[in-house]
Amino acid sequence: MATRRLSSLISQSFSSSPFRQVVQGQNSSLAKGIRRIGTAVAAEEPIMPPVELNYTQLLINGQFVDSASGKTFPTLDPRTGDVIAHVSEGEAEDINRAVSAARKAFDEGPWPKMTPYERSRILYRFADLLEKHNDEIASIETWDNGKPYEQSALVEIPMFARLMRYYAGWADKIHGLTVPADGPHHVQTLHEPIGVAGQIIPWNFPLLMYAWKVGPALACGNTVVMKTAEQTPLSALYVSKLFHEAGLPPGVLNVISGFGPTAGGALASHMDVDKLAFTGSTDTGKIVLQLAANSNLKPVTLELGGKSPFIICEDADVDQAVELAHFALFFNQGQCCCAGSRTFVHESVYDEFIEKSKARAVKRVVGDPFRQGVEQGPQIDLEQFNKIMNYIKSGIESGATLESGGERFGDKGYYIKPTVFSDVKDDMLIAKDEIFGPVQSILKFKDLDEVIRRANATRYGLAAGVFTKNIDTANTLVRALRAGTIWVNCFDVFDAAIPFGGFKMSGQGREKGIYSLNNYLQVKAVVTPLKNPAWL
Ligand code: NAI
Ligand code: MG
Repeated sequence: MATRRLSSLISQSFSSSPFRQVVQGQNSSLAKGIRRIGTAVAAEEPIMPPVELNYTQLLINGQFVDSASGKTFPTLDPRTGDVIAHVSEGEAEDINRAVSAARKAFDEGPWPKMTPYERSRILYRFADLLEKHNDEIASIETWDNGKPYEQSALVEIPMFARLMRYYAGWADKIHGLTVPADGPHHVQTLHEPIGVAGQIIPWNFPLLMYAWKVGPALACGNTVVMKTAEQTPLSALYVSKLFHEAGLPPGVLNVISGFGPTAGGALASHMDVDKLAFTGSTDTGKIVLQLAANSNLKPVTLELGGKSPFIICEDADVDQAVELAHFALFFNQGQCCCAGSRTFVHESVYDEFIEKSKARAVKRVVGDPFRQGVEQGPQIDLEQFNKIMNYIKSGIESGATLESGGERFGDKGYYIKPTVFSDVKDDMLIAKDEIFGPVQSILKFKDLDEVIRRANATRYGLAAGVFTKNIDTANTLVRALRAGTIWVNCFDVFDAAIPFGGFKMSGQGREKGIYSLNNYLQVKAVVTPLKNPAWL
């Protein structure tokens, strides 16, 4: 049963997605289990693939080292709140050491000077190693983050390898132009790496955020200092060791575990960091943008919060719409910046939709993320758990109807029952704020103009979903909605080649795809006189 649910989740949600090939091409025992649809039985006990935690120090200049202060901090297992490991705590002094190493690797080291083809081969080798160690990496990711192991092993780590190969493919295809100036000059542009890139990532997709940032930076020939999220420091250290095994020279990629205001702040304000990329909350995005402006005006890309509408039109097949809207919100424990967290439903199908959404939420399999067939694990930590529970309280107090969930699941760890609210009104906090948890807010609408106005009435603009059989309705919504990604009759379809980023307060710039390369390149114009103007 549970296996069928996962397989249907993967096949429905990724049916038009490149994820699908990745899942089917995956050579792991779980993937084989997935292909035996309906025959596998959910494991009674959680099975955690064995893994050794050998890397808990800071990675600076190709070496694992203690922090300058010698301090450590615990990283916790969201299933229980127990300590998994103590990791070195990087602060300003460690950021200085890492930036110096990255600077030296950029100015003197082989990385920006080696041929792009040589760089691409290291990225390809890294992707091969990711595949070879797929299950160990997935195990660390799930242990530290709490996401279902099947999601880590079958979707996220394969997607990580896909991202690395995508950027490996770009490395030797980045070049400038010859420019026809109006005069006797030969003009060309050189596309050069910017220098040292500072990158700050969150905890909801630790390795995919790593890949979205490290991939383009390194393909373009930059060097990197990465500050991981304090909740999930482990997987980045593990894979960065593999990156060095693949031939990455020392100093090219430095990884610092630590907290935001100390390590993150030091990186954002560092005078010798040439570019900053950040993913996280809108409030912290504002802080890092200010730190960058007040230091050396380094360019900043920001991928921030969202409150994405998912619009179900009157012609929708309700069963399919319910499943997709459920996935759009509950995927990854609801901890997605692009979660479809405002489910707008046409009044003609509203009542049926509510009944079926409630039934689907009640059926959702919550439990230990290492148990086969589990769809939803724990939230990342107590802070997020409390934040979500407060939003649930606010939803009840403001008059929304609680259809399901609304309380913790189990008696330890940070699990929350899949929660559905109906009768949600636009001015309620649960319809305005990013909850970042398994809480679906369903709103009713009458006509297209109304839903366009309401869907756009938000400070965010990261993504939107549209569910309709009518091509004219789809075309109207696609053009009217102010968001960086519009998914039509699908949701959360991601690929290395598909750009991602936000309108309005959801951020600045785009990651992934061809657009991500410009974030990491300088354009240099080179002008040479032509001695013989006859040959212009
Ligand atoms: P956050 O934005 O504070 O943290 C993200 C990263 O920024 C972490 O690496 C953190 O250490 C770093 N950071 C924090 N303060 C910093 C500072 N002053 N200077 C430099 N770096 C700093 O997000 P947090 O506290 O983990 O979660 C709060 C809310 O943010 C969530 O409830 C959710 O709504 C949203 N969020 C959005 C994400 C997204 O994908 N857009 C990811 C994670 C959280
Ligand atoms: Mg943790």
